[in-house]
Amino acid sequence: MAVIHYLHVAIAVIWAGSTVFVGLAIWPMLARMPGEQAVALFTRLRPVVAGILGSMAGLTYLLGGFRAWLGGGVSGWGDLVAPYGLLVITAVVVMMAIESTGGRLRRQLNGLIQTPEAFVAHAAIAARRSGLIQLALLLGLLAIMVTLGLALY
Ligand code: HEM
Repeated sequence: MAVIHYLHVAIAVIWAGSTVFVGLAIWPMLARMPGEQAVALFTRLRPVVAGILGSMAGLTYLLGGFRAWLGGGVSGWGDLVAPYGLLVITAVVVMMAIESTGGRLRRQLNGLIQTPEAFVAHAAIAARRSGLIQLALLLGLLAIMVTLGLALY
């Protein structure tokens, strides 16, 4: 149980920190680069970001679910409608929203990058907006974790 808890917290916070860093620093920086540099960096970064963050997110879902089961908070389907279970479900939904916000921005950048004028006009705003949405959702997700940990529900 302690090992699973440790692994969950470790992988989840690394995923969260990386997601915020990529969302608030890397994409906005790329969005302000001159066209050709932006295309070159985006082409190399996109699969790496999607692969690494996606794998860590997958592990976080598994370890978070396993942690909820091992701790006894969610030991059967019925527990999913109790406050603890509902908070766990909310955490999964919020985390999926964070991931899909990142995925949507990557698709948007991929579209914009084909047209230099559109990229200059919209990429920076889209990147900052997406990063801030991810940060806000992540702070909410962390509040859910603290609520679970301190049994505030
Ligand atoms: C959807 C995915 C997630 C699920 C299902 C999940 C589930 C859980 C569960 C069941 C606990 C134990 C609560 C208890 O003590 O009873 C926990 C603790 C914790 N989780 Fe998550 N978690 C998820 C995502 C995350 C993310 C993304 C982060 C980082 C931002 C995170 C950070 C933490 C921390 C720091 C704790 C310890 C809280 C404390 O003991 O005060 N979790 N998580």
